[in-house]
Amino acid sequence: MTPASVSDYRELARRRLPKIFFEYIDGGSYAEVTLRRNVADLEAIALRQRVMRDMTQLDMSVEVFGQKLSMPVGLAPVGMAGMYGRRGEVQASAAAAKVGVPFCLSTVGVCSVEEVASAGTPPWFQLYMLKDRGYMAELLARAKAAGCPVLVFTVDLPVPGARYRDVRSGFTGSSGLSGALNTAWQGVTHPAWLWDVWLHGRPHTLGSVVGAIPQSRSVTDFLGWIARNFDRSVTWADLDWVRKTWDGPIVIKGVLDPEDARDALRAGAQGIVVSNHGGRQLDGVRSSISALPAVVDAVGGELEVFLDGGVRSGLDVLKALALGARACFVGRAWAYALGAGGAPMIEKMLGTLRSELAVAMTLTGCNVAREANRALLDVAG
Ligand code: FNR
Repeated sequence: MTPASVSDYRELARRRLPKIFFEYIDGGSYAEVTLRRNVADLEAIALRQRVMRDMTQLDMSVEVFGQKLSMPVGLAPVGMAGMYGRRGEVQASAAAAKVGVPFCLSTVGVCSVEEVASAGTPPWFQLYMLKDRGYMAELLARAKAAGCPVLVFTVDLPVPGARYRDVRSGFTGSSGLSGALNTAWQGVTHPAWLWDVWLHGRPHTLGSVVGAIPQSRSVTDFLGWIARNFDRSVTWADLDWVRKTWDGPIVIKGVLDPEDARDALRAGAQGIVVSNHGGRQLDGVRSSISALPAVVDAVGGELEVFLDGGVRSGLDVLKALALGARACFVGRAWAYALGAGGAPMIEKMLGTLRSELAVAMTLTGCNVAREANRALLDVAG
């Protein structure tokens, strides 16, 4: 199948990846209500069609923290990408650089921040706060030294949400012999992945935090350790602590509430990502897109406001811009594309988002992405 849309990359990834990894990417927490809402609420927004305007000069570029993006899209931090494609984070970073959009590297990436940075462009770096502050300070200093321009501090994961699919697939909860047998069976039944990732994509550790984790053998061991070591005591005051090591822009990821957005501003952040972690944390919370307008009204003039969650097409990107986002991040869309066929597929997927955004801008009479506003939406729709 030649993929035409994000749902096609999803299908290709489903065929190619072992079930444990496909389900990990695809799933959300509990009954996946919020995961569905993220997509459905974006779909339900009606664009306002306008005709007979000169639409020959489209400008999709935006500027963020002094960095010019070729379009208002970035690759969200996704953990363990090196298990979906050989050295997956390096591939994603290369694809993003080619297209001219930012790639944000997860704390729990397979490839370390040094590996990604030295292979090409230094990524934005996403931070999970672990209990070992000494190690955290070191990690921030490493990200700085690697040349990462922006720190994305994820705050909606003091504990991991319960993900039923991961239990059912054997991704979490199985270890020892049953875990090993499960992994072996998954490999044998997915030969393309076995060749690409299992045999040629090693080491399978969490590169940036490997030094903090004693005696872990598999990525699932690592994830278990990390889950036990998230620091639940974090408050806004800890941003001062982060600042001691990090002097660049800080973006707080995982804000849905306007009050939290105001707190982020008061605490000295430069941006926020309106996000519910792609419906993977507190199931039942509202969709990111429905949370966006109130957050923009609260802090839009003073913080860079980004959105992620449910973005599956260029039409979705324009809807988010219309409601006040500076840019969108996509998570599953690039993870599916990586699983479907590595960097070339991620590039192709980003090309699809770009051409869809171009069509949406043309047919709503929006020449300049930076000027998108609520007038692009059909409020009666
Ligand atoms: C994530 N997300 C995530 N976020 C983060 O800050 N650090 C991380 O390590 C991860 N890991 C991760 C793994 C996988 C498989 C997924 C799907 C997501 C959340 C991610 O950054 C983003 O918020 C959502 O993916 C956005 O929703 P969509 O685009 O997937 O609908």
